[in-house]
Amino acid sequence: MPRHGVSPGQGHRRSGLEQESDRTRGSPRLRLLWMGLPLIMALVLWAPAGAHPLPVQSQHVGRLVPQLRDAFGWWNLTCPVCKSLFTAIDFGLKKESGVEWVGSIATKLCKLLKIAPPAVCQSTVQLFEDDVVEVWTRSVLSPSEACGLLLGSTCGHWDVFSSWNISLPAVPKPAPQPPKPPAPGAPVSRILFLTDLHWDHDYLEGTDPDCENPLCCRQDSGLPPASRPGAGYWGEYSKCDLPLRTLESLLSGLGPAGPFDMVYWTGDIPAHNIWHQSRQDQLRALTTVTALVKKFLGPVPVYPAVGNHESTPVNGFPPPFIEGNHSSSWLYEAMAKAWESWLSPEALHTLRIGGFYALSPRPGLRLISLNMNFCSRENFWLLINSTDPAGQLQWLVGELQAAEDRGDKVHIIGHIPPGHCLKSWSWNYYRIVARYENTLAGQFFGHTHVDEFEVFYDEETLSRPLSVAFLAPSATTYIGLNPVSPPSLQVTGSTK
Ligand SMILES: *[C@@H]1O[C@H](CO)[C@@H](O)[C@H](O)[C@H]1NC(C)=O
Ligand SMILES: *[C@@H]1O[C@H](CO)[C@@H](O)[C@H](O)[C@H]1NC(C)=O
Ligand SMILES: *[C@@H]1O[C@H](CO)[C@@H](O)[C@H](O)[C@H]1NC(C)=O
Ligand SMILES: *[C@@H]1O[C@H](CO)[C@@H](O)[C@H](O)[C@H]1NC(C)=O
Ligand SMILES: [Zn+2]
Ligand SMILES: [Zn+2]
Repeated sequence: MPRHGVSPGQGHRRSGLEQESDRTRGSPRLRLLWMGLPLIMALVLWAPAGAHPLPVQSQHVGRLVPQLRDAFGWWNLTCPVCKSLFTAIDFGLKKESGVEWVGSIATKLCKLLKIAPPAVCQSTVQLFEDDVVEVWTRSVLSPSEACGLLLGSTCGHWDVFSSWNISLPAVPKPAPQPPKPPAPGAPVSRILFLTDLHWDHDYLEGTDPDCENPLCCRQDSGLPPASRPGAGYWGEYSKCDLPLRTLESLLSGLGPAGPFDMVYWTGDIPAHNIWHQSRQDQLRALTTVTALVKKFLGPVPVYPAVGNHESTPVNGFPPPFIEGNHSSSWLYEAMAKAWESWLSPEALHTLRIGGFYALSPRPGLRLISLNMNFCSRENFWLLINSTDPAGQLQWLVGELQAAEDRGDKVHIIGHIPPGHCLKSWSWNYYRIVARYENTLAGQFFGHTHVDEFEVFYDEETLSRPLSVAFLAPSATTYIGLNPVSPPSLQVTGSTK
């Protein structure tokens, strides 16, 4: 299991901020609202009169359930009645008027609880309501799940976020080989590690860096009072992302650190204005920044991973069993096109299906890029089915076993670090890391915006460190951070 640490000596305001954990998830309170709203609605509609109103913000789902059960017990609900009730509810919710009704409740709650400024509440809800209602009716509010929760397992099965295990091959684990420092004069390969660029198309110098919206320093932020300076030319130590010129400057200044053999680019290209992002906005960020990276790195191959901000609504990454317009194909297709010159045909194939891939940048090294949105606690699509989404971990096991058989080493890149995932996903991942400790030579993630690492320990004693994941600091200053020039790490023994 991983433990966290912060590398010493990073520039000002970086270390010490890690307790704030994950600054990139949008508003956690907004997430609570979306997750809790079905239960709140159930209470509002069916709780017996006289039940005291709930302090919604601090309520946890786990404490709501017994109260819901009481309410339903009071109604003497039988299983068939419960199921037809939820069938009817789902039918109503799926209609356009149902979605609007949920949206208006969510908007009212958001304003009432002052989760965000009214305009932000309004547009966030509009952006999310369709997908969220679609997900609810297929998960928490589906007859089987809801009645299983309320009336027990004789009536249905509540398996939202239930635990699961991938299977490991029968091949016995080779004896652990601690990594050895390379011999003097051994070949060195230089890899540039870029993450969390977060380009803000609407960044505007002079605007208010401390506005009331979740993202400032932009056209809609207004001007600061005369007593405070406005947003800087290059960026700002505030809740602001970066103008393109700063990313251009970062990339054009890389010369002395190179030349690079390859680049690991672990996602989050668009800005944090998550309350009004269209698919076109996200694709513009993808193509603009990809073109910029190509311009400055030329022929150097770049291996990207999919971040949680690439989609809209943010964190919304339906697994491949969701088809049609709700699916992520608008995004993965565009990525496959933008990144075609960097990736192999086989890699482009799995990228199009699930946003992950594997390829061999050089003999002896396999690179695996994971779509960590399938591990994410913020990815509301996983309410429908969180069991190894897209079969990605089982696929990873296959890749690692094949690499072990060949005697190759493996690097894993991804966006959200494995210690920040849904429990079952993380535990399965730790098991895989422990099984393939000899093969896995490096892990590289982003998302937290600070310079950190996660250490993995053996499963038997939880005391023998066996792997480490490096989390690189963000290019963006969001929130109040130094814009970073990529750190330099030495990862030894990366090929045979
Ligand atoms: C629920 O059922 C019990 C026993 O079957 C009965 O005594 C009680 O009055 C019922 N409650 C309601 C609200 O119908
Ligand atoms: C997964 O494996 C663990 C440990 O081997 C076990 O305790 C747990 O019951 C398993 N879960 C499922 C759903 O099979
Ligand atoms: C697909 O969904 C997007 C985003 O919700 C929407 O803008 C677009 O109109 C939809 N396209 C079709 C063909 O329904
Ligand atoms: C969830 O997905 C897993 C893996 O794809 C599948 O085996 C399982 O049947 C699914 N569960 C449900 C309830 O659909
Ligand atoms: Zn980020
Ligand atoms: Zn992120």
